[in-house]
Order: sequence, then C-alpha cells, then structure tokens
Amino acid sequence: MSRVRCDRTAAWGQIQAYYETSGKDFHLRDAFANDPQRFARFSQDAPLVFADLSKNRLDAVTEDLLLELAQQSGVLEHRDAMFAGEKVNATEQREVWHVLLRRPPKPALGTTAPSDGRIDAELAKVHSTLDAMLAYAESVRADTSITDVVNIGIGGSDLGPQMATLALDAFADSGKRMHFVSNVDGHELAATLKQLKVYSTLFLIASKTFTTIETMTNARSAKAWFEAQGGTDTARHFAALTTNVAAANAFGVTTTFGFWDWVGGRYSMWSAIGLPLAISIGAEGFHRFLAGAHGMDEHFRTAPIETNLPVRLALLDVWYRNFHGFTSRSIAPYHSALRRLPAYLQQLEMESNGKRVDAGGEALAFDTSPVLWGEPGTNGQHAYFQMLHQGTDVVPVEFVAVKKARHTLPGHHDLLLSNVLAQAQALMVGKADVGGHKDFPGNRPSTFLLLEDLTPESLGALIALQEHRVFVSGSLWGINSFDQWGVELGKVLAKDIEPRLASGDVTGLDGSTAGLLARLRA
Ligand code: F6P
Repeated sequence: MSRVRCDRTAAWGQIQAYYETSGKDFHLRDAFANDPQRFARFSQDAPLVFADLSKNRLDAVTEDLLLELAQQSGVLEHRDAMFAGEKVNATEQREVWHVLLRRPPKPALGTTAPSDGRIDAELAKVHSTLDAMLAYAESVRADTSITDVVNIGIGGSDLGPQMATLALDAFADSGKRMHFVSNVDGHELAATLKQLKVYSTLFLIASKTFTTIETMTNARSAKAWFEAQGGTDTARHFAALTTNVAAANAFGVTTTFGFWDWVGGRYSMWSAIGLPLAISIGAEGFHRFLAGAHGMDEHFRTAPIETNLPVRLALLDVWYRNFHGFTSRSIAPYHSALRRLPAYLQQLEMESNGKRVDAGGEALAFDTSPVLWGEPGTNGQHAYFQMLHQGTDVVPVEFVAVKKARHTLPGHHDLLLSNVLAQAQALMVGKADVGGHKDFPGNRPSTFLLLEDLTPESLGALIALQEHRVFVSGSLWGINSFDQWGVELGKVLAKDIEPRLASGDVTGLDGSTAGLLARLRA
C-alpha cells in the first residue's frame, strides 16, 4: 500500500495555485447564474442517500484537481487495504474491519467483496456472534417482565447505539423503555435508577475494553443498587458487550457478547455494541440496518472515484479546511429523531481525525479535523443560524433532510422541509440591502443530504457514508484515523488527582489546579 501525504503530491500545489487565482473569489450566485446544469452536475445518488453538493464553492476545475489529489495520495489503495484487512491502524497494529460487521455471510448474494480464507474465518465469527446477540435481543423483547433496558457505556459504546435507537424510534416495537447512562457524574445514573424497579430492569454494560473508568464506576454502582434492592439473578439482569469477556466475567457478568480488537470504539455499533438498538427494533430491523450500511460499503468500494460520494465529501472537507481555512462544519439534521447525530459525528470525525502528526509520527504542516457541531432544525435557526448567515466566519453547513414523515400531523412536514430548503437557499444567495444590518452576504456553502425515508436501511447507509468520508479525509491527510492517544493524558491525570481530593496533597501540581483543588476541599 503506497500512501502519499496530500501536501507531498503535485496536485496539492496546483490546488493552492487555483485557489489563489479563482477559488477564493468564487461566488455561488454567479456559479448558478452561469451554469443552468449546476445542480445536475454537482448532485448525485448514492445508495439510499441523495446528495446535493451544488451549493458548495466548487467548480469543475476544482473537483478535477481534488480527484487528482485523491489519486496521487493513494486513497483508493488505502481503501482497498482496509477492506482486505491490512493493519491500517498501524500505531495499534490492528486491522480496521468494521465493514465486515455488515457484510452478509458467505456465500453472499449481492456482494462482490473480496474473499480469502482469513476473511471467511472472521466473517464466520461475526455471524455466529451476530446470531447469538440477535437471538438474545429477541428473547429480551419477548420477555414482558423486563420493562426497562439501561445501556451503561461511553463514547463509542454510547453515542452510536443511543443515536441510532433514537433515530429509529418509529420502528421501536419492543415496548421497553430504553435508557443510556454514560457520564461518571452520579446525577445521571441516580436519575435513571429512580425510574427503575430491580426485577424489571436489564443492564447492558457496554465497553470494548471493560476498563473505562466511567463505565466501570457506573456498572459497579448499578450492581450495588441491584443487590441492595434484593436482586440476585445477575445472569438475567446484566449482560456485557465487550472484547474483554474475561474482565466481564471477573466483574460477575456471565451473559456476554463479544467483538474484536479490529472494531474501533466509534465504529462499533454494528457489533454487539448495537444490542440496545436490536432490542428496540428487533433482529429483522437490525439486519436491515446492517444491509443499508453494506450497500454504502459496496458503493465506496466499487463506485468510480468521480461519483464516489464518500470521496467527494471528503475532498470537499479538505478543500474547505486546508485551502479556504474554514475551521468548523455545522450539522443540521432536519428530523428530530436525528437529534444525537451531531454528537455522534463529533466523535466520528474529531476523535478520528483530530491529529497533529501523520501516520509516521511527523508533525503536519496543515490543519486536520474541523470542529463539528449542531442541533436539529428548526431549533438551530432560532439559536445560532444568525452567525451562520451574518457572522464573520464562514461555516459550511451539512443539512440532512428526510422526504417522508412518519407522523400524520397536518402541515408540519411541509413547514419543516420548506425551512430546510429556505435556510440552504438563504445561506447561498444572501440578500443585498443598503449595506448594513440587513445585508446577507450569501456565498455560504452547504451540502444537502436527502433520505427518502428514515429507516434502518437509510440510517445504516447514512452512517456508513460518514464513516468512509472520515476515512478518506484522514487518508488524504496521511494520519491514522483509528487511534485516539489524545484521550489518554486526561485519564492518567484524573487518576493522580482523585486521591488528592481526599488528602489535600497538592505537591507537584500547577498553581491553578492546586488552587481549584483547595477550593473544592474548603
Ligand atoms: O474516549 C476514548 C475511548 O477510548 C473511545 O474511543 C471509546 O469509544 C470510549 O473511550 C469507550 O471505550 P470502551 O468502549 O472501551 O469503554
């Protein structure tokens, strides 16, 4: 596999030159006025997702240069290496194989994905675990004595299953109340426990490593609460979702569903970590979710580069981050069920690509991950869209809209859709006034992702699209998108500080930390 860092390609300099001569003065209003075909040229279908990129600061020359950048950087070879199970997570010496989690079992109808003995062996493990996990989900669904399911996990062991369970609420037919506890802040667990009865609650302890301090603390407190209330049947009321089955057993949980080191935490909801979703929407629904993602995997693996949607989105991300210097991207899902999508994408993008050295450990001379943030529309319009329209920063917006409503309240959906269209339009066209407070500069870029319907399949496709887009931008930047060393230091320091809160020992601490610690103890 030959990867070339983006800034060491010939295309990089050409893009920089083009940006200086034309790119920076590009105006969307003129681009639409000059090209009646612009929408057709810069929009495309991908499996279950339609994408309109036309309201971005892109022209044909820029796109060609960016595609050339992808070719020269070896993105396609890198992609193939990921699918083939090479150890593309080099700093941890691991394969990056979440695509296997959604691949149909062999012999697979409808997939031409590569096979070899090693892939087949992993796939067999994936499917036997999936079958066991889904059989368990069905048994929980059928058990009317269980009314509440509490997922205890954090990061990838919380954000994915929570986001997807909320997003697919219209498909939830288990009759169970689903709860998600992630924060080590005891207020969260305490508030949840208040709503529970020990004999009707199932706790899922979700942790890839089974060592994460927040999750272990919450799991211990949940178990103590269970026992204090007279609960004895741990096998029935606790299950663990982890790669560290031995630690789960040592903790006293015997019902376990495993996964593998090659599943990154933020890429894990397709594994046993997806159990809350499977309980909520059932085994068939979960299979549909996987199938939607697999459809997008096949698109990413096989579509020509110029119509490969994850590649096109990632190139746009690089164009904005490295040439325009835009520092963030706002996620605007116009569907209230997608309200945790921004938080989910924050981890996906920022934990993957928030890196300052390349895969070889060398400092980068350019920027990487943008900041991702957002709220569902139309709420964001009444909060921070002011800044998007008239602020001094340009923030590309990513709208996600769904054509079909699954409620029957008259009028609402048309109003919602007219708002999302209007916001994208207003950002782009702006409005010239007398040059003061009521002036809208326009030329504010946005991408519009459209789903026909929010279903398990389309959600799977949408998330796989985002995963692959993050892969491609990380690949261009030459970084390892699959480690997260940056979360370690805080963990180590918290361990050092915790006993000091009791002892008051401030030896060796900086002045501010020592001062705050003293104040907390006073
Ligand atoms: O915050 C770091 C991190 O390792 C994430 O990458 C991960 O999703 C999260 O912690 C939870 O880890 P685990 O599933 O091992 O508890």
